[in-house]
Amino acid sequence: MTSSLHSADLIVLESVDSTQRYAAEQIKSGEFLGGVLALEQTEGKGRFGRKWHSPSGECLAVSLVFTNYAKHPRPYLIGMSLAVACARAFRAQVQWPNDVVIHGRKLGGILTELLPNAEGQLIPVVGVGLNLNQSSFDDEIAGVAISLVMAHGLEVEPTEALARIMQQFETLREVQTWSDLAHYWERYDATEGKRYTLNDGRIGIAKSIGPDGELICDVDGHEERVLAADALMSSAV
Ligand code: BTN
Repeated sequence: MTSSLHSADLIVLESVDSTQRYAAEQIKSGEFLGGVLALEQTEGKGRFGRKWHSPSGECLAVSLVFTNYAKHPRPYLIGMSLAVACARAFRAQVQWPNDVVIHGRKLGGILTELLPNAEGQLIPVVGVGLNLNQSSFDDEIAGVAISLVMAHGLEVEPTEALARIMQQFETLREVQTWSDLAHYWERYDATEGKRYTLNDGRIGIAKSIGPDGELICDVDGHEERVLAADALMSSAV
């Protein structure tokens, strides 16, 4: 896979509300941007409108702008590829749709958004949040989160973490369909058996991942296929 980081700037900010929001503004105003990295986010965005904690200097918070994949048929596969790249870079696992986990706890998460540029073309912007150097977490997430320091005793600066992830990302073959990614994903996959809350409140137990990268789960003894936008992890992560 290829990012725009070689051909456009990476902006590094001391503090910002959200790198996703900052990238959205830049793209809309016509800026050709490779990415935005912030040492701190005051209003980091997670999936489903949740808050994402990004304490100063302790985590990676970066939004990568994939102008080169503006016409990608399945932009969510870019986020899943980045999850695999994170797992390869830091001896972690992936959990559908694109969480990065160690020992069943969340090391990082990925948020893929399609944001309009000055011409109204939709550009995939993939936000990567990774816990790096935290030695503890707020009570709210203490039971479900883990950092690289806690897991591996490894201290990494945010820009170094990004470099390691992008190095792995570039070794992945171009991903157009799930089958292009499946064999990489399966090596790191920790999804099977996890509980997901579906958008109608029912609970599904993960069985496998289907031919379009959708989750196949068991719901009350029946097999159902679930898209990423329709399922929330309900326990552990
Ligand atoms: C998740 O809920 O698992 C996804 C979390 C994504 C967080 C990252 S941090 C960098 C980027 N900027 C944001 O505001 N969110 C994403």
